[in-house]
Parts: sequence; structure tokens; C-alpha cells
Amino acid sequence: MKVASYIRPLVANLDVYVPGEQPKVKDLIKLNTNENPYPPSPGVISAIRKATDSRLRLYPNPTCEPLRNRLAKYHRCHPEQILVGNGSDEILALVLKAFVEPSAGSVVNKDVIQYFTPSYSLYPVLASIHGCRANPVALGKSFEIPALSQLKRRGWSFSAPLSLITTPNAPSGTAYTTSTLEQLCRKQKGIVLLDEAYGDFAQENAMELALKIPNVLVARTFSKAFSLCFQRIGYCVGDVQLIQALDKIRDSYNVNGLGQIAAEATLDDINYYHKTWKRIIDTREGFTSALRALKFEMAPSQTNFIFAKPPDKPAKQWLQTLKDNKILVRWFPYPETKDYLRITIGTEAQMKSCLKVFKAFLNQ
Ligand SMILES: Cc1ncc(COP(=O)(O)O)c(C=O)c1O
Repeated sequence: MKVASYIRPLVANLDVYVPGEQPKVKDLIKLNTNENPYPPSPGVISAIRKATDSRLRLYPNPTCEPLRNRLAKYHRCHPEQILVGNGSDEILALVLKAFVEPSAGSVVNKDVIQYFTPSYSLYPVLASIHGCRANPVALGKSFEIPALSQLKRRGWSFSAPLSLITTPNAPSGTAYTTSTLEQLCRKQKGIVLLDEAYGDFAQENAMELALKIPNVLVARTFSKAFSLCFQRIGYCVGDVQLIQALDKIRDSYNVNGLGQIAAEATLDDINYYHKTWKRIIDTREGFTSALRALKFEMAPSQTNFIFAKPPDKPAKQWLQTLKDNKILVRWFPYPETKDYLRITIGTEAQMKSCLKVFKAFLNQ
């Protein structure tokens, strides 16, 4: 028997998620995965150092109890309304497992997830892995959520068991108002997960919806605003019964111990992070104006990245030119995104280097 024949067709034929490239050359400026250019607070580094002792032989807290208590205070809710995951990617995978039937199941129309396009490119991959259907629905021309009255005509289903909404959106960087989201959530019969991976950079967030509408979950991560990608900490907030369902199906020790300690220490140092967010936002605004002057087109971003349509030459060519100059940005090969570059906001100095390459390419 051929080894390949042991593998389920679903797995053998999977279109996998492609993470942003990791640098292979030295001194590369990495603006392709929306990492925070500033380090975690000194308090976080010292908490991790202090915890790296003989405790490493022990299992971590299985329910992240101390961290959930801290997060509950932060969001003014109960710890029972919070589930912590190995990054918010794990939360997203759990949500499919808990609320969506695989397509082989017999329950009609319970086997679909829906999301807007463009949004987080992991969503269709999660659908494929889970073996359910995906219902991608196009955002408007300026990446806005179409009017509620038009959504059905555009293919959106108000009875889908799970809708995943990236807010503010990625890769467009554009924000939705809480009132738009509330109207949509209240019309949905299934679960709505608001993926607020970039929520801390935005002018408003929709956490209140998870606390007042029973079918709404809000997912957050420590990866972006809190500079902790390396530690893989994400969480979601919502109704106690939904959280209990997710809790049943996660791995017993799904969140590593150092990550839990780092996340707790992060919440002790919130003022430090507010300062880094302001720096990132100031840099973003300056970089955006400079790019507009070079005739790049972009919608206003409320995240730590911009989504820019470059002038004169195809985006893919700009991607290569940046790479030749040791700058990595992200390009997505889909029809609705292929004309754009997604550029993470780094330090002032990194963005200046990026701008220099753009100007040289345009001979200005
Ligand atoms: C929209 C969105 N959601 C979730 C995630 C996953 O973040 P985490 O590092 O917490 O798994 C990302 C990461 O890029 C993201 O862009």
C-alpha cells in the first residue's frame, strides 16, 4: 500500500494557510506579519525571566485561571466568560468545531461559515480543515460592510451557524463602527465571532457586544498590540454557555506557562503599551501621507498596517523590489487583493527606509 493512501483526501488536497515569510537574510526589515516593532514592557521580560526556573518541569495552569481573572477585571466581566487559547488562531479553530457541522453531517445548512472578502485568509482554510462549506461575501468598494438591506442579495446568510468578522478588517485596515456591527449581529441567527486582533489600534471596539448579545463572541490576541507573538496567547469573551462549550473541546493544557505569565504581566503595564500604540499610529499617519504624495491609493487604516495600491507598476513587482532592498511586506494573490501591498507599520526608521525604496523605484 502506498503511504499517501493513508492520508484522508481532505488532508491530501488541502490548500494550506501560508504564513508570512520568515527572513533568511540578515538585517532584513520585516513588515509582513503585523508584528509590533516595539518590545514587550521591561516588566514582562523580567516576569518571564523570573519564571524560567525549575517550574518548567511542571504543567501550566490548565484553565489559565489567574490570567482569566485578570482579563475579567480588564473587560469588566466574569472569568467564566473568557476562554484563553494558543493564539487567537486556536480560538478560531475551536469555534468551528463547537458551532459548525462538517458537511458530511446530516443537519441541513449547519455546515457553513461565512465571512467578508477580503478578510483574514485563514478563515477558508479553517473551513477546509473542518470539512464544512465557506460562504465568502464581497465587501464594498471601500472595504465597507454593505448595507444590511443589500446583504442578502449579495449572498450573505442571516441563518449561517457561524460568521467570522475581522474588525478592524485585515488586510484592508479599515474599521467598522460598533453600531454597524450591532445591527448585523442582532440580525444573525447563528454565532458571530468578531475577530478584534487589531482592535487596540482602532478608535472603537465592539467588546460590549460580546457582553450584551448572547450569540456574539469577541476574539482578541496578545500578539499584535501587546508584542507577544512568540508566546501565542489569544482569548475570546462571550456568553458563559458558549465559553463552556469551547472549553470542553480544547486541549487540557492548551496554553503554555510562560505565555500565561507574560500575558498577566502585560496587563500590569497597560500604560507602556498605550505609548507604543500612539507611536505606531503617529508613524502610520506620517507614512500614509508620504505614500499618498507618491500617488499610492489607500483607505484610512485603524490598524498597525496599511493596505496600499501602488502606482505605475503591478503590486507584485513592487513586492520584489522591496525584497531586493531587504524589506519584506505582504502580497495576497487573490483577485480582490492582488493590486495591493499590505505593509506593517514598523519604527520611524524602518518606514523611512521603505519610503526611500519607493521613491527610488519611482525615480523621485
Ligand atoms: C485577523 C487576524 N486574526 C487572528 C490572527 C491570529 O493571531 P494569533 O497570533 O493570536 O493567533 C491574526 C494574525 O495575523 C489576524 O490577522
